[in-house]
Amino acid sequence: MEALKGVRILDMSHVQAGPTCSQLLAWMGADVIKFENPAGDATRGQLRDVPNADSLYFTMLNCNKRSITVNMKSAEGKQVFVDLLKECHILMENFGPGVLDRFGFTWEKIHEINPKIVMGSIKGFGSSGPYSDFKAYENVAQAMGGAMSTTGVPEGPPFVTGAQIGDSGTGLHLAIGLLAALRQAEKTGQGQYVEVAMMDGVMNLCRVKFRDHQRLTRQSLSEFSVPTHQGMGAVPRAGNDSGGGQLGNAIRCKPGGPNDFLYIVVQEAVWEGLANLIGPALGMPGLAADPKFAKIADRRKNQAEMWEIIGEFALKHTKRELMAILNPLDVPCGPIMSTEDLANDEHVRGRDMWVELDHPQRGKWFNVGMPIKLSASPAVIKRSPTLGEHTDEVLRQVLGYDEAKIGALKQAGAFSAPPKKAA
Ligand SMILES: CC(C)(COP(=O)(O)OP(=O)(O)OC[C@H]1O[C@@H](n2cnc3c(N)ncnc32)[C@H](O)[C@@H]1OP(=O)(O)O)[C@@H](O)C(=O)NCCC(=O)NCCS
Repeated sequence: MEALKGVRILDMSHVQAGPTCSQLLAWMGADVIKFENPAGDATRGQLRDVPNADSLYFTMLNCNKRSITVNMKSAEGKQVFVDLLKECHILMENFGPGVLDRFGFTWEKIHEINPKIVMGSIKGFGSSGPYSDFKAYENVAQAMGGAMSTTGVPEGPPFVTGAQIGDSGTGLHLAIGLLAALRQAEKTGQGQYVEVAMMDGVMNLCRVKFRDHQRLTRQSLSEFSVPTHQGMGAVPRAGNDSGGGQLGNAIRCKPGGPNDFLYIVVQEAVWEGLANLIGPALGMPGLAADPKFAKIADRRKNQAEMWEIIGEFALKHTKRELMAILNPLDVPCGPIMSTEDLANDEHVRGRDMWVELDHPQRGKWFNVGMPIKLSASPAVIKRSPTLGEHTDEVLRQVLGYDEAKIGALKQAGAFSAPPKKAA
């Protein structure tokens, strides 16, 4: 049985941050009703690769959901919303600040309509504090949550990361909050408001950078490859440093293409084995015991030279060859995998992390699979819905509306955008 079978979610979320959360919950078996404005989630039309088909931006974030369109700017649409609120366990949204309030539905009002419902909101900066009125996208959150200032090299500009920690990362945080609040509501009969601010989520993911921030008040950061000193204030960008107690770096391999790198962690325990392998191969038989590198404190001090030596060895091998050489020595390492590498990787396919789906508008396409594996409830991934595909089904099945009522609501414009005024 699916883990969240019987949980119904009214999902007003759009773009990326909310939909990643509700897609995960749908993959765990929740009945997610994607409640869209009649024009649809804007991502349906964004970055289109197939004319007139829902974009991959949309299809990859909205699997296993049902879509219903409702015009919240009409009285009839609002009534449908109220009826749905009474039939759902979770309501979620990630509108800009105040949108739901402007529709007339504050959390207090929603709680009054259905005291047991859990409401989840993602905002750029939350509902309190000087930034609370601002909208946010992924990179705004990365900029303001500490990720950008700590990514890159000191002499270069701050960089965003490819991983969508602002949007998808916040979606994960929300999923955790919703499930906790749902459990509490099941016990107490009382729902609550769950808020996750993207900036807070990014700060949470940058936790170890704040560890270093506080260490800097007392000491320099001896494991950093870039200069640091006590009292310098902000944590500097440190390239591909490991970020932990062990030394790590991305080392260039043969034949020198943009992703021909192996990330190697010179864990304290593996130094001797590693040095005994590469030292003799480079005419340095005494490398393991060399006082410049023998102890971790010395390797930290002389890490530039250590990486140069490892780099010279690495250039003789491809990243895969080097991985095969280092794995038996228990050296933690991983090739830098391109999207092309991953889409064709046997391990990835074997773990259902690159899943082929069909879609009525776009034909065959792939989605990244479900990363959370439940042993008794494996996810079955189904394509995303077309706009309003399940409007009638949801009205009939969830709300018990009859054909006459549905027809009258349609006539009144509850499910469609008002006609455009003539210019
Ligand atoms: C992402 C974001 C910047 C997009 O901004 P936006 O495109 O202006 O969208 P908003 O959420 O502010 O507004 C949605 C609009 O659609 C309207 N709308 C939404 N659902 C509707 C419905 N069912 N019927 C009628 N109108 C609807 C809203 O009323 C609002 O219009 P208004 O400004 O006239 O009130 C903004 O939603 C945001 O900051 N969200 C919170 C942070 C977040 O999640 N960001 C990451 C997104 S991946």
